[in-house]
Parts: sequence; structure tokens; C-alpha cells
Amino acid sequence: MKEIILKTENLCVSYGKVNILSNIDISFEKNKITAIIGPSGCGKSTFLKSLNRTVEEYGGKISGKIALDGTDIMDMPLTKVRNTIGMVFQTPVVFPFSIYKNLTYAPIYYGEKNKSKLDETVVKYLKKAGLYEEVKDNLNMDASRLSGGQQQRLVIARCLTVNPEIILLDEPCSALDIKNTAHIEKMLLELKNEYTIVIVTHNLAQAKRIADTVIYMESGSMVEEGPADTVFSNPADPRTKEYIDYMKN
Ligand SMILES: Nc1ncnc2c1ncn2[C@@H]1O[C@H](COP(=O)(O)OP(=O)(O)OP(=O)(O)O)[C@@H](O)[C@H]1O
Ligand SMILES: [Mg+2]
Repeated sequence: MKEIILKTENLCVSYGKVNILSNIDISFEKNKITAIIGPSGCGKSTFLKSLNRTVEEYGGKISGKIALDGTDIMDMPLTKVRNTIGMVFQTPVVFPFSIYKNLTYAPIYYGEKNKSKLDETVVKYLKKAGLYEEVKDNLNMDASRLSGGQQQRLVIARCLTVNPEIILLDEPCSALDIKNTAHIEKMLLELKNEYTIVIVTHNLAQAKRIADTVIYMESGSMVEEGPADTVFSNPADPRTKEYIDYMKN
């Protein structure tokens, strides 16, 4: 049985009078990786940002329904929505503190004072993000001194410290080299055992390597959704096929 954790119904998003997303109905299955692909400007980032209401911070207006475990996110406290549905952007934004403090920031904010618990948290999430071995002797180093790929993994580790169920990633590897990209992909494949992952990517090879489900978007609409193998090898919609063929060349 498929377990659906997040579902949109008739989701529309507009900026001012301009409608950007139209009538998106999609279900995200728990502990799966869903990749969203589509041409630049089709609304992938807008869609991702709508899923935890971040789009509202950018002036976007949401209509329709987004249900998390069956509850409309509009009826949930915003902090709960943002903590449960974490988000990671293309360019990692580390806090201007040490690696240690980046990871203890949220736990301390939510009241944790016990030093050994905080130490445990740091180790636990750095391990989950596949960064621990590289930084374990330098936890007090300024996080901004990490490489781009390490910063991206740190931001993902930090996102995990508030116990999300879903992680949204918007082109997290587009500024990274092959080695760092491979690190992130390996980490995501491990994280999906515990979390549900939605990733926007321009890199179709990446979507093929890691995604269970692929969504093809065009002009603010969802054109096609299906198992990754099927969408890539035998897309149902000619628009999907055209995009995939175009991206191959
Ligand atoms: N804050 C904003 N205010 C007004 N319009 C916006 C805003 N953000 C995005 N848009 C518009 O919404 C449309 C979708 O943009 P979006 O960033 O979601 O596309 P995208 O598919 O993520 O593109 P890319 O692949 O280039 O990242 C574009 O036409 C864009 O100009
Ligand atoms: Mg985008």
C-alpha cells in the first residue's frame, strides 16, 4: 500500500495578478524521492516553495489545498509546517558561526540546554548528512570555511535538527562538482529511509540515479507524473518526450 504523506489538490499560485501554477494535483509517497523536472521558468521553485508556504514570503498567493498527513497546512501553525517540511536552496546559506553552533542553533532555540545532548545532536546529524568524518576534528571552525559541497551538506544536517518529515531541495547540486554531487546523492538515498524527499533538478541523469518518481512540469502545470524508469524510457505525454530528448542533446 502506498502511504501518501503530502498531497496537493487544485493547487494554484499567483504573484499579484499573474497566475504561475494552475490546478496541480499531486501526491507524494512517504520515504520516496520525487524529482521535479521541467524548463526554466515553468514554476518548479514556486511549486516547491508553496509546499511549506515559503512562497508567501515572496509575495505568492496560494489557493487550493495542501494536505500533510491529511491535515490542511493552512490550519496548522506556520512553525510546525516549516519544521515538518524543511527546505534547502541551491546556494547553501550557513549561519556565520561555527559548524557546532549551526547545528545546535535550533535545538537551543527550542530549549535544549544539556551540553551532552547537544553534542549528541551534532554528531548524529553530521553523520546522517555524511559530513561527520570530514569535520569531526574542526567542529569549532567557522562554517563559512567549508567547501561549497560541505556547506550544502551542513545546511541539510541543520535542516534535520528540527525533525522534519519531508525535505524539499531546490537544485541542491547545481553549483557543485561531480564529487560533491555524488556525496549529496548518496546521502539522499540514505536519508529516504527516514524522510520523504522532493528535489528539483535540471540534471536528468541525477533524477535517473536517485528518483523513484518523476514529475514533469511545463508552463505552471503538471504534465506528467510516474515512476522514474517509465517517465524517462517511455513518457506518456509528447511534451515530456520532447523535453527529455532536448535535454539529452
Ligand atoms: N517573487 C516573484 N514575483 C513575481 N514573479 C515571480 C516571482 N518568483 C518567480 N516568479 C515568476 O514565476 C515563474 C516561475 O518561476 P520559478 O522560479 O518557479 O521557475 P523555475 O521552474 O524554478 O525556473 P528555473 O528552472 O529557472 O529555476 C517565472 O515566470 C517567474 O518569473
Ligand atoms: Mg527554480
